[in-house]
Amino acid sequence: MIKVVVCGAMGRMGGTVARLIHEAHDMEFAGGVDLKEGNLHGAPVFATARIDTLLSSMKPDVLVDFTAPTAAVENVKAAARHGVAPVVGTTGFSAAQKEEMKRAIDGKVAMVLSSNFSVGVNIFWFLVREAARKLGDYDIEVMEAHHRNKKDAPSGTAKTILEILDAEVGSRPKLYGREGMMERGKEIGVHVIRGGDIVGEHSVLFTGNFESIELSHRAYDRSVFAMGALRAIRWVPGRKPGLYAMADILNLK
Ligand SMILES: NC(=O)c1ccc[n+]([C@@H]2O[C@H](COP(=O)([O-])OP(=O)(O)OC[C@H]3O[C@@H](n4cnc5c(N)ncnc54)[C@H](O)[C@@H]3O)[C@@H](O)[C@H]2O)c1
Repeated sequence: MIKVVVCGAMGRMGGTVARLIHEAHDMEFAGGVDLKEGNLHGAPVFATARIDTLLSSMKPDVLVDFTAPTAAVENVKAAARHGVAPVVGTTGFSAAQKEEMKRAIDGKVAMVLSSNFSVGVNIFWFLVREAARKLGDYDIEVMEAHHRNKKDAPSGTAKTILEILDAEVGSRPKLYGREGMMERGKEIGVHVIRGGDIVGEHSVLFTGNFESIELSHRAYDRSVFAMGALRAIRWVPGRKPGLYAMADILNLK
């Protein structure tokens, strides 16, 4: 049995992950952490300030985090203190926050960090990398759309796309939306849509003269992210301390 604590258990993603853990035969939902105390699937939900109490009493194998960047950094530090492996899906981290989490787990625990746990998106990133290797002289635009409640923009998934493009075509200026008179240069245009209940859509458009290639991914239900997080939960126990991505789990490296 893999014992799991979920931070952000009362939220959209954390709630979905907690339910799938509760329904899985090989996992136990040992408890949750959120802003307010409560109960979920027969397990306690602790307020953030009491995370150490929860981790020392429940002794989980894995801590899942779908909260907000500042909270996630503290939750990862707490997990490392207690020898619990973090699986982090929260997005919107600064470079300094990512570094802080890396330092916290260094030599202590294995952590899986992914701005998108969907298997399809991880294959999509792989295809974007392949396309960028061959189409480096094409104009590139990145588009993403999400529901009205998403706070960070562009999405973590879009930022990962930009990191992949930077690595393959060289660092180019990013232009977030276009307005007014301007010449198209070497920039990568980034376009963000927020509205309704869109679960998550990403496209990368490579345009040359007389042709274009568009790679895109659409998520229809947030359970695809939660199911990917469950793959990470099953994979991480017993791994060597260090930082891992879904690409490690899916053998895409
Ligand atoms: N990696 C992925 O596959 C993936 C997929 C979807 C969303 N996300 C990301 O997951 C995060 C959460 O998204 P969501 O849609 O579930 O948001 P949400 O607002 O529905 O849920 C966040 C939950 O975290 C709780 N929370 C906030 N601060 C906290 C703190 N200090 N301590 C404990 N709990 C705290 C909130 O009360 C809420 O219940 C976002 O960063 C989002 O971008 C990642």
